[in-house]
Amino acid sequence: FTRLQDLIAQNALQGKRVFIRADLNVPQDDAGNITEDTRIRASVPAIQAAVKAGAKVMVTSHLGRPTEGEFKDEDSLAPVAKRLAELLGQPVELKQDWVDGAGLENLQAGQVVLLENVRVNQGEKKNSDELAQKMARLCDVYVNDAFGTAHRAEASTHGIAKFAPVAAAGPLLAAELDALGKALGAPARPLLAIVAGSKVSSKLSILKSLADKVDNLIVGGGIANTFMLAAGLKIGKSLAEPDLVEEAKAIIDLMSKRGAQVPIPTDVVCAKEFSPTAAATVKKVADVADDDMILDIGPETAALLAEQIAKAGTIVWNGPVGVFEFDQFGNGTKTLALAIADSKAFSIAGGGDTLAAIAKYAITDKIGYISTGGGAFLEFLEGKTLPAVEVLGSRAAGSQ
Ligand code: 3PG
Repeated sequence: FTRLQDLIAQNALQGKRVFIRADLNVPQDDAGNITEDTRIRASVPAIQAAVKAGAKVMVTSHLGRPTEGEFKDEDSLAPVAKRLAELLGQPVELKQDWVDGAGLENLQAGQVVLLENVRVNQGEKKNSDELAQKMARLCDVYVNDAFGTAHRAEASTHGIAKFAPVAAAGPLLAAELDALGKALGAPARPLLAIVAGSKVSSKLSILKSLADKVDNLIVGGGIANTFMLAAGLKIGKSLAEPDLVEEAKAIIDLMSKRGAQVPIPTDVVCAKEFSPTAAATVKKVADVADDDMILDIGPETAALLAEQIAKAGTIVWNGPVGVFEFDQFGNGTKTLALAIADSKAFSIAGGGDTLAAIAKYAITDKIGYISTGGGAFLEFLEGKTLPAVEVLGSRAAGSQ
């Protein structure tokens, strides 16, 4: 696909109307204060580059999942406009009802406006051609920099890319794809993945897709409990999905046929209840009692996995291996996090809980690449094509 940087190198943005689809879908508290602004920060380089290149810059994003055609105060990007203006060091006016071009007639080169929540427009979610064409008419150049929304075929992420005079990938989208390509396309081996979370069912396609590629698949959380059942171990009253034990067995078999491994814990941290004050007991897996809940991997398992991490050439991390929000069940995740931080491997991490663990154990600077994508990151791991990326590729192929 065409990259924004290519257009800038050709001096193709001077005086042009540039429409940037970013993912500024950030968490807010009840009072509307932004509680985490990583995605806004990550969107700044594209906007700044377009400003510097002399473009008239329109930026838009969705925020939450509003009902189309029913704009409510909490759907507004107003707090985002304020934060973006602070980060850019220039005014960012928020434009309402912009789809037909109202208020966008006299933009100046170097000016930045934010177009109100794109998802309140009729047709955005269902990728209506009519809306996509209207948005395409607003611009000379369309830039998609919204990796976090790349798995959605919506009018502002997909349809518009078919109709805009020029369509390009922004630097964040390109960097995410480059990092994921490096990790899964032609990885330095051994390739090790950590896939953890409460349910096998929600990550089954990822596990199956990675089972074909990785040398070492570390499972954690409720997912590991289901794999322990598959290995014939007792897990007491731990969270698991017994109906997926056969799927877990199939993954273990497939991996072992390739000489790859799914390490099963040898010790675990148990509690009698799920609570922040629950007493934690380390047990060998054979000693797990009927009334035990497994809430973390044990120290012996964590040390063994840390050794495997130290030998890896590439690490893909999605999900904490224990209930790390409660300190007494955080040692497994902490040990693996520090091992990743110490490793020389190229590492990539993504997903909300994983990012929270990275922040908690203060290893942000030690991860090769931290994805801004939640669902998009997971769908890439599943081996799915991201529609917003595919359309940019076919535009580029068509124009050659
Ligand atoms: C996300 O937060 O994962 C993205 O912004 C996509 O949001 P969505 O799931 O509401 O499409």
